[in-house]
Amino acid sequence: MAKARTQARCQACGHVEPRWVGRCPACEAWGTLEEETEARVQPRGGGRPAAVRAQPIAEVSTDARARLATGSGELDRVLGGGLVAGSVTLIGGEPGAGKSTLLLQAADALARAGRTVLYVSAEESAGQVRLRAERLGAVDGGVLLASVAELPTILDLVEAHEPDVLIVDSIQTVRDPEVGGVPGGLAQVRDGAAALTALAKRRGIAAVLVGHVTKEGTLAGPRVLEHLVDAVCDLEGDRHHALRLLRATKNRYGSVGEVGCFEMGEGGLTDVADAGRLFVGDAEGATGVAVTLALEGSRPLACEVQALVAPTALANPRRAASGLDGQRLHLLAAVLERRAQVALGEADLYASTVGGLRLTEPAVDLALCLAIASSRTERPVPSGLVALGEVGLAGELRLVAQTERRLAEAARLGFTRALLPRAYDGPAHGLALEREPDLRGALAAGLAQAAGPA
Ligand code: TYD
Ligand code: MG
Repeated sequence: MAKARTQARCQACGHVEPRWVGRCPACEAWGTLEEETEARVQPRGGGRPAAVRAQPIAEVSTDARARLATGSGELDRVLGGGLVAGSVTLIGGEPGAGKSTLLLQAADALARAGRTVLYVSAEESAGQVRLRAERLGAVDGGVLLASVAELPTILDLVEAHEPDVLIVDSIQTVRDPEVGGVPGGLAQVRDGAAALTALAKRRGIAAVLVGHVTKEGTLAGPRVLEHLVDAVCDLEGDRHHALRLLRATKNRYGSVGEVGCFEMGEGGLTDVADAGRLFVGDAEGATGVAVTLALEGSRPLACEVQALVAPTALANPRRAASGLDGQRLHLLAAVLERRAQVALGEADLYASTVGGLRLTEPAVDLALCLAIASSRTERPVPSGLVALGEVGLAGELRLVAQTERRLAEAARLGFTRALLPRAYDGPAHGLALEREPDLRGALAAGLAQAAGPA
């Protein structure tokens, strides 16, 4: 028999070394390597593969699986129509985002619909979960609750109760006494998730794992879970705002980028089906404020972008973005300066979205430039105007995807004017269109005269 070889794996980044070393050559962290026997990670080898034959694509039966509605239209939308039997979904988010709340509410709705739901809390006591359930009105639905952290016990519970739905909150606190490594470390998290995934597949259970996201935005046990599971959703939102966004970043059974909107209140999370003007604050029409229509997954959202340009004595003026791409802010500031003669060299520049929304698509460029120029020149962007366009390095305006859909939504929400690239030749949906070839023209058209005394 071949001797089981050992190797060392970095618990932070997953890098494998043939032997233990003090510092990981890949991520340069100290003391993160741990020894493991290679057999655990060896692929099945040897032997001849079973006789498998390919078949014409038309004869392949589709993998249409049963969907379990979660009682929340928004959650179902993000999942692609509900939880899928025999699949594993990872719900990530920072502590306090509302993951436990969302899942306890879903568990209750599923139980009321007659499913057997097992909710395993590996970080809170059963009593604590019951208290939350009382707050949510989720006590009488019939959810089965256990407060356990040991993996073998969780697997036994699943065997005993044969649930349709299994929720494990959180995967980072599940531990397997037979596997080494620190609790919440790579080996523990990966092995726990792998065992639960295998069980869910074997028994056709719809499993949901909760994963805490660290400050850097990576799941502890960095990204090791993403390839194991079928769907990954992130619950985002500012602790100080009631609004929460659930975003699918991976989905084998639905589309990626789909977004659900929720509001956190006294009785838990409620669906916000029409997010319409939720991300437009009261400042519309003030200087330094512009509105765009973003597309989050398949849903258009009117979003306010704010900018503040403040004089500075610093040699390297500050550029700070919140909810927006910081690199993009630098780039657009340079384009404004060079192509549209908006002087920003001796000014600090701050830019932000409202409601804790994260906007990363290039469609936000024009609104951001307008907001910056508006703050710099103290000329407001008239209310009722939406800006849609990507800004190029030459100061040119480029058409963004699905402009027509965005315009239709802007009109529905009561906007009256749209500032967009000249290339647009679709319908106006009742909006006054101002089509401009470049950033300079757009700023001239989009900024009102200087705000005089009111
Ligand atoms: P929680 O679901 O525990 O977050 P996570 O599991 O992601 O760490 O809830 C987070 C916050 O939500 C918490 O600060 C309290 C608040 N909350 C409400 O505002 N209303 C509610 O009904 C509940 C249950 C929680
Ligand atoms: Mg929690």
